[in-house]
Amino acid sequence: MAGRKNHSTAGTGPARRRLGLGIDIGGTGIKGALVDLDDGSLASDRVRIDTPQPATPAAVAKTVGEVAGQLEHTGRVGVTFPGVVMHGTVQTAANVDSSWVGTSLTDTLTPVLSSPVIALNDADAAGLAEVRYGAGEDRSGLVIMVTLGTGIGTALIHDGILVPNAELGHLEIDGHDAEKRASVSARERRDMSWHQWARHVQRYLRQLEKLLWPELFILGGGVSKQPDKWFDEITTRTPRVIARLANNAGIVGAALAAAEAGSPARSGGARQQDES
Ligand code: BGC
Repeated sequence: MAGRKNHSTAGTGPARRRLGLGIDIGGTGIKGALVDLDDGSLASDRVRIDTPQPATPAAVAKTVGEVAGQLEHTGRVGVTFPGVVMHGTVQTAANVDSSWVGTSLTDTLTPVLSSPVIALNDADAAGLAEVRYGAGEDRSGLVIMVTLGTGIGTALIHDGILVPNAELGHLEIDGHDAEKRASVSARERRDMSWHQWARHVQRYLRQLEKLLWPELFILGGGVSKQPDKWFDEITTRTPRVIARLANNAGIVGAALAAAEAGSPARSGGARQQDES
């Protein structure tokens, strides 16, 4: 995993592909793949290992190393985390081990990966990927990506530029943290029908649009693979689309953020994360 190039390449001549490595740390799985940066497709198998429990920094770092060890790459590695990440340091950990708070993700992973690490929030990565390669491709104005999973992640992207670490999944609605009612884990925990759950998601989205007036919602997370169960039950003033990159959005966005870190253009959020 050593090397300091900005990205790997495959092949020679005009067909040479720009490849990046993205790793997505989640509450249940740590996933990684090489990504073709020209079209956002996966350029390798997707490697997934269960997140160790408890998901302490040392245990997660070991697993990230095992995932990366199966993927040949030189240069910066993009890594997502399911919490706020500022200047490479984890600030919140709503759905992972609280010992992460105050821990530098970049310092923890750089020795394991032997490469510079670009760290960012998981929903931010997913949003960047969808706006660049997926359901929000080339959309201007404010696009809000909402990932519905164990928690609710959100990304605000305006004219292709990310405003990092929007924690709108924790918006208070009817006296409750939104993700306690409208996340996928809330549906399972509270044994809600899809219809009941969709009402909560709708209430949540309507609150978001009332406050932020986006031009597009992209709805992602694991449930984006079965939209027939819930998507048509929701109405909002804002146009809605289902995420196109499904479970790979975090990996793809992480690789993209790593490739573009330090560049003045589109991935605004990645610029604000430290490179080690
Ligand atoms: C966290 C967010 C994260 C989301 C999805 C929320 O609980 O606060 O930072 O993006 O879950 O993992």
